[in-house]
Amino acid sequence: MSHDLRPHSINVIREGQAPSGAYVASPNFATYHYSWLRDGSFIAYGMDRAGQHDSALAFHRWVDRTLRGVAAKVDVLEAKAAAGQAIDPSEWLHCRYTLDGREGLDEWGHFQLDGYGAWLWSLMEHARLTASTEVLKELRPSIDLVVRYLTRFWDRPNYDTWEENGDQVHPATLACLYGGLRAVNRSLQSPALDETAARIQAYVLDHFVHRGRLTKFADGRSVDANLLWVPVPFGLLDPQHPVVQATVADLEKRCVTGGVHRYPEDTYYGGGEWILLTAWLGWYYVQVGRKNRAEALLAWIEAHADERGNLTEQVTEKVNDPSMVQPWIDRWGPVATPLLWSHAMYLVLREELNV
Ligand code: BGC
Repeated sequence: MSHDLRPHSINVIREGQAPSGAYVASPNFATYHYSWLRDGSFIAYGMDRAGQHDSALAFHRWVDRTLRGVAAKVDVLEAKAAAGQAIDPSEWLHCRYTLDGREGLDEWGHFQLDGYGAWLWSLMEHARLTASTEVLKELRPSIDLVVRYLTRFWDRPNYDTWEENGDQVHPATLACLYGGLRAVNRSLQSPALDETAARIQAYVLDHFVHRGRLTKFADGRSVDANLLWVPVPFGLLDPQHPVVQATVADLEKRCVTGGVHRYPEDTYYGGGEWILLTAWLGWYYVQVGRKNRAEALLAWIEAHADERGNLTEQVTEKVNDPSMVQPWIDRWGPVATPLLWSHAMYLVLREELNV
């Protein structure tokens, strides 16, 4: 039965926000007891869209304090890059932090640039939606740090939005960087930064467009629902651009079975339908005026909430590989529920649909 999950979603997110301001990825899933910059940036955005600005601000301040604590790493990285020295995987800024803002000790594919770009974008959206630039002054040292980091390292291979394929460059990641740098440059007004954004955009068009559509890698075949991020929200290409339209048509064929799968070869918990990506496709449909389709996806999400109204990370009714569901349950427990990022994207879609 479908119903309005908005109040419950706001509660889930508030309950998952630590006193520090960090958002836990999922409270009931041990592996996700961290705050990711990627998840958190979209969660903060969802809260801003839902009018919960104090929560978003607390997250941004937490990111700022956390980054001030690791700022010296960027000096070392820049010095090494300038000297042509190799950088050890352990030296990059981390993609997630403990809720009190420390680096975790577990082994992880930490070199993920997308969350840093998404954070700049989300922070600028916070300033826009609250019609105040005060926060930008307060957080300026961290903004500058992230701009330096991304400007210097944007073209290095790093783990993608799913923390995989660390030996590749990914258009979805580059979209986050493009969107973040462009957004922040509304305030910084630096011609050099505009130029970096233009280079990122050109790189995506040169390397990832094959037969008129975007691919996840430069291999001419692959697809991934994270390619939706290229138009929405980051605007690296317009939602109506023919390349985007062809990409979405390909996604509809290969990744949509009601809800949206990450990519056809995904076997994480079998590779089911992700709530957050289903909302993302709805967000895209609203942008191109296909409101009925977006409403159908909103209804699909609501119908897949559990009896308490919680949204999972993924729905495992229709998976790419049924033999891979149980092995993941044995390893990490049932699918993460509730996932704060799923609830946030649901909030975004509801706001987009104005319901
Ligand atoms: C996803 C990441 C996400 C993390 C925490 C992973 O399974 O691939 O995108 O940041 O979970 O939610």
